Amino acid sequence: MNFYVLNVKTQQERKIMWRDFRENILFAWKYVCHPLRNASVTPSSARAAEAMVAGIDFSDIHTIFELGPGTGVFTKRILKYCRQDTKVVLVEIDPKYAALLQERFGDRVLVEQTSVADLEALVAKHGGKVDLIISGLPVVIPGVTEKLLRVIKKCTDEGTIYRFFSYVPFLVRQVYKGLPVRKVSPCVLLNVPPLWVFEMH
Ligand SMILES: C[S@@+](CC[C@H](N)C(=O)[O-])C[C@H]1O[C@@H](n2cnc3c(N)ncnc32)[C@H](O)[C@@H]1O
Repeated sequence: MNFYVLNVKTQQERKIMWRDFRENILFAWKYVCHPLRNASVTPSSARAAEAMVAGIDFSDIHTIFELGPGTGVFTKRILKYCRQDTKVVLVEIDPKYAALLQERFGDRVLVEQTSVADLEALVAKHGGKVDLIISGLPVVIPGVTEKLLRVIKKCTDEGTIYRFFSYVPFLVRQVYKGLPVRKVSPCVLLNVPPLWVFEMH
């Protein structure tokens, strides 16, 4: 019996390892195809995902938007901590990632396969109030960042918590100049490349 249970567990572990391996290959391939859109060759680590949500009180969070979820590393962590009835909207431009996210997280998430340039309309579509925005986007997306920051500023002025990460704090200082952004994590070294988490609230 124990041997049987052990064997089943090993099979499950193998299945997850194989899935992670395929996703890492997909991620690297996406980076080759769209380096500016993906900004990294590997998905963020579990440590990075933990840092992204550290210290957030999820008991009063009813609507979450995740921008650029990729293969869902942060999504997994969000779903671990948020309430069962929290609406989780994933905005992902890449159709392959969007399909993968829908398959993996099912009806627990709402996948919007579009650009974050449409964020204002998406927020309105999903009730007009967002409690938390978690962004896995590159800090700079040519032609999008300026518009996106205007919408995010409007949301945070209304009480939204906005979390994002960067591999280059200097770039954050440039792009978010004049905005009330603060670093909320030490350098997460167990990530390729190491990163910092920032918050605007
Ligand atoms: C650096 S990857 C991060 C993926 C994941 N959050 C992680 O940390 O492993 C950036 C993600 O943002 C998505 N993305 C880039 N530009 C976007 C846009 N304009 N609208 C929506 N998603 C976008 C990419 O497809 C990719 O999934």
